[in-house]
Amino acid sequence: RQDIGKITTGTNALDTLFDGGIETQAVTEVYGEFGAGKTQLCHTLCVTVQKPKEEGGLDGGVLYIDTEHTFRPERIVSIAKSKGLDPEKVLDRIMVARAYNSAHQELILQEAGPVIEENKIKLLVVDSAVGLFRAEFLGRGTLSVRQQRLNKFMHLLSRTAETYNIAAIATNQVQSSPDQFFGDPTRPVGGNVVAHASTYRVYLKKSGKKRIARMVDSPHHPEQEVLYTLTEGGVAD
Ligand code: GTP
Ligand code: MG
Repeated sequence: RQDIGKITTGTNALDTLFDGGIETQAVTEVYGEFGAGKTQLCHTLCVTVQKPKEEGGLDGGVLYIDTEHTFRPERIVSIAKSKGLDPEKVLDRIMVARAYNSAHQELILQEAGPVIEENKIKLLVVDSAVGLFRAEFLGRGTLSVRQQRLNKFMHLLSRTAETYNIAAIATNQVQSSPDQFFGDPTRPVGGNVVAHASTYRVYLKKSGKKRIARMVDSPHHPEQEVLYTLTEGGVAD
């Protein structure tokens, strides 16, 4: 078994939450309401994974499965600049695959092996992992099929992360909790369709101009919350 690697988030707060960074051989599920920062965190990791090991990266490339057309090269450019990296070189190491429907999303992952090996991929992003399934399987009668398909996808993601010793990050949009007394939900609304195969689950939440990240149900991390912000340079303290 190869050594587990970690990718810094470039922030003290989130690195503390992740105990050093996003791990390889694992799926990190990031869920939360719109605007919480899921996509910005993914973009930031696309840059930090490329840093050398001494600086918290894995000197690796990225496979970015973009299901909502929210990958933005110009965001990568500004994040790379803010971290003192050459934006063009950084962009060159990010392979973006646009998934047009859930079957296509599955196919991209099924065929990812050679792409991962040829491009020294160390980070696999699926943003959003759930959106296309949710859009295509509407209504109660289709819920179990959706769940099966999503479970299968998440298991393949998990197996891919383990096989190639890469980090996988999967996002899932959920509504914010209506519960004012206990604050944040600890479960995604709409069921734990994604939970089973995920090794780590992180809940992101807006709090005014700040953002809150909470580690949920991790066997290896204390259940804690940290504050972070979203800036032109990506996620920040
Ligand atoms: P959904 O995909 O809609 O579920 O949301 P998300 O969780 O992916 O949110 P995303 O990561 O796209 O965050 C969007 C927020 O990031 C915006 O509302 C801004 O607050 C912040 N943001 C994005 N780009 C910039 C930027 O260049 N500068 C600053 N200061 N903030 C930014
Ligand atoms: Mg997003």
